[in-house]
Amino acid sequence: MRIGVFCSGGDAPGMNACVRATVRAGIADGHQIVGIRRGYQGLLEEDFFVTRDGNTEMTLRSVSDWARHGGTFLRSSRSERFRTSAGQEQAAAILTRHNIDALIPIGGDGTFHGAVALAQYWDGQIVGCPGTIDNDLQGTDFTIGFSTAVSTAVAAVDKIRDTAESHERMFLVEVMGRHSGYIAVHTAIGAGAETVCIPETETDIEGIVDNLQALRKRGKSSVMMVVAEGDEGGGAAAMEARLRAAGCPFPTRVVILGHLQRGGTPTPEDRLLASQLGHWAIRVIGSGSTGVMVGRVGADLCEQPFPETFASHRPIPGDLLELVATLSH
Ligand code: F6P
Repeated sequence: MRIGVFCSGGDAPGMNACVRATVRAGIADGHQIVGIRRGYQGLLEEDFFVTRDGNTEMTLRSVSDWARHGGTFLRSSRSERFRTSAGQEQAAAILTRHNIDALIPIGGDGTFHGAVALAQYWDGQIVGCPGTIDNDLQGTDFTIGFSTAVSTAVAAVDKIRDTAESHERMFLVEVMGRHSGYIAVHTAIGAGAETVCIPETETDIEGIVDNLQALRKRGKSSVMMVVAEGDEGGGAAAMEARLRAAGCPFPTRVVILGHLQRGGTPTPEDRLLASQLGHWAIRVIGSGSTGVMVGRVGADLCEQPFPETFASHRPIPGDLLELVATLSH
C-alpha cells in the first residue's frame, strides 16, 4: 500500500518519533510511505517530503535520528481552506491522483474532525495517532507530547519556586490547555503547587483567598498556583487581578509558560508511546481498519473511532484534584 503520513494542528514533542515509527514499520511490512508536509494545508498544496534523491517515497534513512527531536520535521499547520467542503473535496482528489491508499494523521481533535470530514469524499483508510500536548482525547491514557509538556512545566515551576521562596511571593504560572486541565493538574502535583485552576471546575476566588490566608498562618513562605490558560475565571493575569482585589495575603507575580511547553527534547515516555503508536497504526491499516485513532490504554494498544475521541470532554480524575489540595498543606 501507499500510505501518507502527516502532522497537523499544534505540534507536540514526539511527533517525529511517531513519523519515524510509521516509516520504519511501514517499510518493514512492505508498504510505501509518503510524507506530507504542513498538515492538511500541505496536502492541498501537494507539498510532499522529498528525499535527497528527489523521490517522494520515504526511506529508512529519511527518518534517521528523528526520535530524539522535538517539533515536527514534516512541519504542521492549522488549515483554514481544509475546513471548507471545497477544500476537503480537493484534498480527496489529490490523494486519489497520487495513488494514496491510506493516511496516518498525527494530531489532536481538530485533526480528527478533519479526518472525519475527508472520509466523506475519499474512500482510502484513515488511521490517526494522538499527537497533542493537551492529553484531551478519549481512547488513550496519554497523548504524544503530554509527558514532555508536563516535564517542561514542572521544571519551570521548580525554578520559579526558588525565586518565590527568596522573596516570599506567590506566583501564578499559566500553562497551556484551552479546554483541558490535564497539563495544569499533572504539573501542580509534580511541582508541589499549592493550588490549581482548571476549566473543568469552578474557580472560587473567596475560597482560594481564605486558603491562602490559612497557608500564610501555617508558615508557608511561598505559593505556587498553576492556572490553565482556559480556566473559566480567566488566565493567570486575570486571576492575579481578582485575587489582589479579594485580599490575597501574598505579593504576586505572573509567569505565562506558553509555547515553551510545546518544544524541547521528547521524554523517553513520549518517544516510547510515539514509537508504539506509529508502529501500531501501520498494523491497524494492514488489518483493514479505518476511521479510528490508535491509543494505549493500560498496557494495551487499541483503536477508537474518530468521533468518540472528541465527542465528550475527557474528565480530570477527581482523586488528582484532591491530591493537589491534600498535599498542599
Ligand atoms: O492544542 C495544543 C495547544 O498547545 C493548546 O494547549 C493551546 O491552547 C493551543 O494549542 C495554542 O495554539 P497556537 O499554537 O495555534 O497558538
